[in-house]
Order: sequence, then structure tokens, then C-alpha cells
Amino acid sequence: MKINFVLNGEEMQLDVAADRRAVDLLREDLCLTGTKEGCGTGECGACTILVDGHTRLSCLMLASQLAGARITTIEGLAPGPEKLHPVQQSFVEHGAVQCGFCTPGMVITTADFLARKPHASRTEMAEAISGNLCRCTGYRKILDAMEGVAEEVGLPEAPPQPVAQPDVSPIAESVVTKRAVFSPKSLAELWAIISEHPQARILAGGTDLLIWIRNRRIDPPSLISLTGIDALRGIVEDSHWLRIGAGTSHAAILGDPIVSVMFPVLAQALKTLGSPHIRRMATIGGNIVTGSPAGDTLPPLHALGAEVELSSVSGIRRLRISDFILAPGKTALTPGEILSAIFIPKMTGPTVQHFEKVGLRNAMACAVASIAAVIGVSADGTIESARLAWGSVGPTVMRIPAVETALVGRTLTRKTIENVIPLVAAGISPLDDVRASADYRRLVAGNLLLRLLRFAVPSAEMPSAGTAMEKSL
Ligand SMILES: Cc1cc2nc3c(=O)[nH]c(=O)nc-3n(C[C@H](O)[C@H](O)[C@H](O)COP(=O)(O)OP(=O)(O)OC[C@H]3O[C@@H](n4cnc5c(N)ncnc54)[C@H](O)[C@@H]3O)c2cc1C
Ligand code: FES
Ligand code: FES
Repeated sequence: MKINFVLNGEEMQLDVAADRRAVDLLREDLCLTGTKEGCGTGECGACTILVDGHTRLSCLMLASQLAGARITTIEGLAPGPEKLHPVQQSFVEHGAVQCGFCTPGMVITTADFLARKPHASRTEMAEAISGNLCRCTGYRKILDAMEGVAEEVGLPEAPPQPVAQPDVSPIAESVVTKRAVFSPKSLAELWAIISEHPQARILAGGTDLLIWIRNRRIDPPSLISLTGIDALRGIVEDSHWLRIGAGTSHAAILGDPIVSVMFPVLAQALKTLGSPHIRRMATIGGNIVTGSPAGDTLPPLHALGAEVELSSVSGIRRLRISDFILAPGKTALTPGEILSAIFIPKMTGPTVQHFEKVGLRNAMACAVASIAAVIGVSADGTIESARLAWGSVGPTVMRIPAVETALVGRTLTRKTIENVIPLVAAGISPLDDVRASADYRRLVAGNLLLRLLRFAVPSAEMPSAGTAMEKSL
């Protein structure tokens, strides 16, 4: 396929395989080897580039997704051959480089972050680079360098208008490649492509799908990217519901003030999902359709009583999320259907909302066990309603009716929770796997419930959710 884009300020037209990874296009076809490939699976950040002024992991992008974009790689960051970019300068001055492998990704990420938040705290800086791994310098010097950036950091300007593309239809443009990648711009185009290519796989952020393809777990004949369909993105509210387009990124949802005020349990879960890079690329729809019991948006969406909207050329239907995910990786989507939106009902009274996840590390960790709770508590501390959902302790997200019923009408105290913990252990069906034993998960699931008191009753003394690890090892 032919694509036009602007690379480090220079207009390019290339004829490439639509499914070639952006990192390979940059490094191998264009010899821009400053962009590194470490893991190839979104975990190390070495391949970070700027696409239209936002960081993207080029190992999880396809060449076709660069069409029309303005790309900046490390080679194009400095203002000219004689002068380093202020972030590069600071990295040099603070000795924040050892082998240098992580440095291009680290510098690009820092430049993007400081351009948006020049007076960030050290903690915010650490969070900003939490998706960029360095195996040798140590993060202290990198953070020193970030703090030491003296000049205002500017980013390459966004293009005044999208880069013009060769004049071809979304269907014709890509069928010449090994694996076709279609890029419809509207739902009408999407339905036409789906009807002609029923075996095609939907591609959203690609943070799951492209890894499965890379690992040869799946080999779809073609992909249909949803990125160009504006109707699938965005958050709107009416008097009863908040509607989140399935193509909305986790970062966009996290940045939405309605979500953080009205549904903090979802915002808390999103903060723990992947890294800032992953949250900018990945979508809520992709997380739901992947249907992993460890998917971080799923416990909050179950606890909030969310519904999903499924669309196809024949129309729209709505299902409760609990009826949508049938088994690990299996959903109620029928051929030709996509997940188009998520509807979250607005709460009618005050609620205590909380999400907590235990993983093997603090960042970029899959849940060993997680809990999302939405509890209605009256002024005198009586539990009026309880919706609790656990992740990673069964084949799908689990709610335990016996626990919820036992809590309603009681006061939210340590004793009340301790009394229902046996019901938690009996109500879940965890597995032994590489991340944890079933016994450990059972113990943690109960501890997570107990730790809710920290948020409802801040002075309560709580166990660490992970203390069970010592017992299970
Ligand atoms: C480094 C790394 C860390 C991660 N950390 C976490 C984590 O902490 N927690 C977590 O929950 N996940 C994590 N993930 C997994 C992944 O990022 C999420 O599941 C993400 O939300 C998937 O969304 P996506 O847009 O990238 O989906 P894609 O990869 O594009 O698609 C995933 C699946 O959903 C289908 N699909 C996507 N959108 C639709 C739609 N609208 N309609 C129909 N089908 C659709 C695709 O066909 C595919 O089967 C991580 C991934 C990586 C690479
Ligand atoms: S190479 Fe590691 S995130 Fe892309
Ligand atoms: S400097 Fe070697 S990996 Fe960071």
C-alpha cells in the first residue's frame, strides 16, 4: 500500500506492506536505528516515537497506521545538527545514560511529558517514564536529568492539516499486501468491509492483538482498524447513563472529569492498567472483548452494572456486561458485530467505590487478584447496597451473590467483613498458574475485601493484601 506521512519534518511517500510493524519500517527500511526494539511486546518503551505529537510504541503499530501522520523519531528531536534538544542536553549533563539502549525512548517520553507538564513533581516524572525500562543507569539519574531540564520543552508542531493520502478507497488501498489492513473512516464503510471480508479481525489499539499475531497465536487473513472511525470514540452523558465509545483509549477515559468524579472505581482501575504508553494506545473496547479474567476494566464495569452496545449492519443491541463475557476470551459477539459502546448507569445515591489489584509488581502487572466494590452506605454506616466483583479468581470476573446479600443491612465494620470472608473463599474458583497458586488467590481475595475498610473507615488497621504470599510460598 502507498502511504504518505511526514517523518522528522520531511514529507515521505512509501509503498509498504500494510501490516509491516512501524518499528521495522523505521529501522530496517528507513535506517533510522535510533528507535530501538527491546521486547517487541509493549513492555520496555525502547521503541517510543511521537505520532502527531503523542508517544506511541512503534513495536505495536502497523505501517498503515502511520498514514497521514507526523512522526518524530529520536533523529528528528533536536532543533538542528549543532544543538541537542534540552532533554538530550540534560541527559548528557546528568550522566543519565549508560549503555544507551533505553535512552531514545526515555528521551522521547520525557520530551513529550515535559512539553505538556513542565513543572511536574518527581513522582509525576517517575509515573511518566514507568513504561520505559532501563536496565543499567538506574532511575535516580534519569529523574535527576528530567528535573534538570533547564529550557522550556517544545514539541514538533502538529500538522496544520492531515497529510494528504493517495486517492484510494479504504477497501482497495490495502489488499495488495500479505495481510490486508483496512482503515474505514465511517461505520458505513466498516459494514461494507466486514461483509466482504467476514474473516477479518477487528484491530483497535493492537496492544493485545498484535502480540497474539507476533506470537503466532492467531493468523487472521486481514485486519480492520477502527482508529479512523470517530463515532466509536468519546464520552457523553445523559440523565441516566454515561456512554463511552468502545474505541476510547484508557488515557482519554482517565482524563475525563465525569469518570473520575462519578465512577472513581473505574478511574482507579485504569490507573493500574499497563503503562502510560499502553493506556494511550489501548481501548476500553479491546480490554472488554479480550475477555481476560485479569482485564482491569472488567471488575469495575461489573460492579457498576455496565451494559455493552453491540452494532452490526443489521442494527444495535444491548447486553449486561455479565451476559457479554461468556468464558475466558469468549464473548457474545456474533459474526459481523462489533462492540460499539459501553453504558454505565449513573448512581442514585452516595457510594463507596474502590478498586485494588495485587500483581507481581506495582506497574505493568497482570492481576493475581483484584476487587472492584461499589457500596451504598447510609449516613449511620449501614450498607444499603453492595456490588463486588473480583478479577483473576475464576474463569471470568466473579460476583458472589451470597457475599453481597450478607453485607446488606449490616454496618460496614471489620467484624462484618470478617464474617463474610468464608463466603468469598467458597464463592470463587481460582486456578494455580505461573503467577500464583489458587490458595494464595483465595486468601488475597478475602484480604482485598477487608482492605476496603481502609477507604470506607480510614482509621481501620488493615492487612497487606499480599501478606498471604508468605503463607503460600
Ligand atoms: C505491556 C502491556 C501491559 C498490559 N497491561 C495490562 C494491564 O495491566 N491490565 C489489563 O487489563 N490489560 C493489560 N494489557 C492488555 C491490553 O493492553 C488491554 O487488554 C487493552 O485494553 C486491549 O485494547 P486494544 O485496543 O489494544 O485491543 P486490541 O489489541 O486491538 O484488540 C483486542 C481484542 O479485541 C477485539 N476488539 C477490539 N476492539 C473491538 C471492538 N470495538 N469490537 C469488537 N472487537 C474488538 C480485537 O479483535 C481483539 O480480539 C497490557 C498489554 C501490554 C502490551
Ligand atoms: S520494543 Fe519494547 S515496548 Fe516496543
Ligand atoms: S542506559 Fe542501558 S538500558 Fe538504560
